[in-house]
Amino acid sequence: MTRPARIWLKAVAWVLCLLPLLVLACYATTDGLGANPISFVTNWLGQWTFRLLLATLALTPLRIVFGIGWPLLLRRLLGLFAFFYASLHFLVWILIDHYFNWDQMLADLVKRRYITVGMLALLLLVPLAVTSTGGMVRRLGGTVWRRIHRMVYLVGVLAALHFLWLAKQGRTAPYVYAAILALLLGVRLWGALRLARRPRDRAS
Ligand code: HEM
Repeated sequence: MTRPARIWLKAVAWVLCLLPLLVLACYATTDGLGANPISFVTNWLGQWTFRLLLATLALTPLRIVFGIGWPLLLRRLLGLFAFFYASLHFLVWILIDHYFNWDQMLADLVKRRYITVGMLALLLLVPLAVTSTGGMVRRLGGTVWRRIHRMVYLVGVLAALHFLWLAKQGRTAPYVYAAILALLLGVRLWGALRLARRPRDRAS
């Protein structure tokens, strides 16, 4: 892909990734947050965190199944936006939901398993975000860097548990997200197994 095309691609991705925040701001300024605005904002940001996480995880399967490699250029950008939305989601929980009531937050963290796994998912995203730069790839070396970044699959599983455990009975959305995640992880595993059986492919 040419340099201008890459710049355009990233610019479009930036706009698309910021769009959910813009829509949320529009809802907020037009009284569109419903009867429980805190819950609306928390859930909106949580949903977009998960969607961006799935989008990040979909890029390699796209290459494995369809041979389309260019979306991988967006892996870092999408991953960082997932982290950004997760941080906002968490900030709403701290600042608006609990208003710095640390005892209440700690109690929530211990008592509610969906909060425990959500927190774990966010904490695991931190080293991924910190080591996402080209400089860090060079400093750590490709093998170590890849090992660290495999944690993104665990983050996906924790996010799925978070959503499954918090959702009210009868909601289909958490199962849809979990099924998409399972499909993406399945393709990844299949790709890795196929590669392992053909060692010469790895060298080329
Ligand atoms: C990668 C990290 C995370 C992801 C992907 C994520 C995703 C989600 C999703 C998809 C929802 C449900 C949206 C809906 O019902 O429509 C949600 C709700 C929620 N999340 Fe998270 N979340 C993450 C981290 C966290 C963390 C760190 C906390 C707080 C410590 C948290 C607290 C909550 C709360 C309080 C709700 C709303 C529950 C309710 O409606 O009662 N999440 N999150």
